[in-house]
Amino acid sequence: MKIKIVALLLAVFAGYSSNAHKENEVKKGILLVTFGTSYPEAQKAFKNIEKKVQQAYPEIPLRWAYTSKIIRKKLARQGQIINSPAEALAKMGEEGFTHVAVQSLHVIPGEEYENLEKTVNAFQHMPKGVQKLTFGKPLLYSHSDNERLAVVFHDKFENKLSKKSAMVFMGHGTHHQANIYYPAFQYYLNELNKNYLVGTVEGFPELDKVIEKLKAQKIEKVILTPLMSVAGDHAQNDMAGDEEDSWKSILEKEGFEIEIILKGMAEYDEVVDIWVDHLTNSFKEL
Ligand code: CO
Repeated sequence: MKIKIVALLLAVFAGYSSNAHKENEVKKGILLVTFGTSYPEAQKAFKNIEKKVQQAYPEIPLRWAYTSKIIRKKLARQGQIINSPAEALAKMGEEGFTHVAVQSLHVIPGEEYENLEKTVNAFQHMPKGVQKLTFGKPLLYSHSDNERLAVVFHDKFENKLSKKSAMVFMGHGTHHQANIYYPAFQYYLNELNKNYLVGTVEGFPELDKVIEKLKAQKIEKVILTPLMSVAGDHAQNDMAGDEEDSWKSILEKEGFEIEIILKGMAEYDEVVDIWVDHLTNSFKEL
């Protein structure tokens, strides 16, 4: 597998090696990397990130890459070509970028994040192309990231809570050990109010656990919102869809009144600021 990747990358660079590069000229760039989404209306979250990053770095060219092959394929069929991180870095090398700050727009340091880190490390050792790369942390990485995001949400949603109404955040969840961030983040939220709960689609805690807690806390109304960068497929369907296995339908069946906030986290400037601060931290090292 490794040999295959190296061979592929060498092939890519062999094609570029004939190009004359101006020596010693520093050209810095930023590569924003997300899982991706195929929902056009979810794109506004990415547009917001782009706007905020451009405000912070008006002189630095920006590129995007999606880590999800399925989403890239789906978009390609619709005529929209989005690069993988490796393709984007190879192209940036070809465009003459010497220094690139790669920023993860993932929520937790899970599998997608780790794979991206491996790609970034592989490009550190390329004989041609980009000479120096830095890698920015995902949204939730440190203790202070968790504290900060909890405060952002509390400032926004405190007025939605009452003794009988709770807010449930739907995270993605993963088999990766970083899934621990989801129950951990709930702890930080609960330092501010006990009526914040976190559940996941594909990890722990599951919706059943959330329902147990809602009942124990005698909650009547649930406000549902995604703990994801965009309100894409999971938020639209698994959370807010009308199918009987959506969280909305299941919770309604359990007797809860439901309110939906269908907004990706990246639509909130204060959340994007956390990612931008992570970019700033790594950009300094470039
Ligand atoms: Co998913």
